[in-house]
Amino acid sequence: MLIAQISDMHIRAEGSLAYGRVETATFLARAVDHLRRLQPRPDLILATGDLADGGARDEYRRLRRLLEPLSAPVYLVAGNHDDRAALVSEFSDHRYLPRTGEFLQYTFDAGDLRVVVMDTVIPGKVGGEVCSERLGWLSARLGEARNRPTVVVMHHPPFETGIEFMDGYGFEGGEALGELIAKHPNVEAVLAGHLHRRISVRWRGTVVTTAPSTAHQVALTLAPGARGHFSLEPPACLLHLWRPGQGLVTHTSYIGTFVMHPFREERLAG
Ligand SMILES: [Fe+2]
Ligand SMILES: [Fe+2]
Repeated sequence: MLIAQISDMHIRAEGSLAYGRVETATFLARAVDHLRRLQPRPDLILATGDLADGGARDEYRRLRRLLEPLSAPVYLVAGNHDDRAALVSEFSDHRYLPRTGEFLQYTFDAGDLRVVVMDTVIPGKVGGEVCSERLGWLSARLGEARNRPTVVVMHHPPFETGIEFMDGYGFEGGEALGELIAKHPNVEAVLAGHLHRRISVRWRGTVVTTAPSTAHQVALTLAPGARGHFSLEPPACLLHLWRPGQGLVTHTSYIGTFVMHPFREERLAG
């Protein structure tokens, strides 16, 4: 099972640039082309939030057109830039998206791996939250299959990264979420977005990893008090390789075509 994770595509309407600088649709088109060229092709694609930049219907329509060349199923996750109602309405054929209730939360099977998607959005805010209702939902889902290897997916990561200006937006309910996750050693990983770069940490008995953006990255500013910037570092996606008995192995796949050379001497390979 090969799961590709793309994140933070921030699609805007035609003729409009994110932050006045970034043509996010062109970047996503490159990412889609990249996913189509991968060998082997991913079995499914997780898109971990901030799908649209302003949550407008025409942004989701454009996103839909950009994703169309993908033959693998795409699972959409809401981020702080998204609008739940507009997202569901433009992707009404995505049957896994719930039609009732406030939150866009669902589960699906990826081979013998179970995927549980959480909604961490607080409308109108940048930071994330797992409130008691969402925590109750997750507790019930995890309780249904305590022995199945499970991946929890959400837009906001529940840990502090050291990038202060992003950490400052906060994550409510992280302690209770951590206590719940710690009771379920079958949670192989928590996969998140929002940080626009790959960051990993051991957390409450599992591993949390955030994904790069398909477009602009959050600049790596670890100095205390550093101002926030975005950076046009190489965009990337994550490839999660799941093999029973081996666990979830996560690779970074940079988007683009790069020169490759064979190793000259077999004995020096690697
Ligand atoms: Fe984002
Ligand atoms: Fe975000």
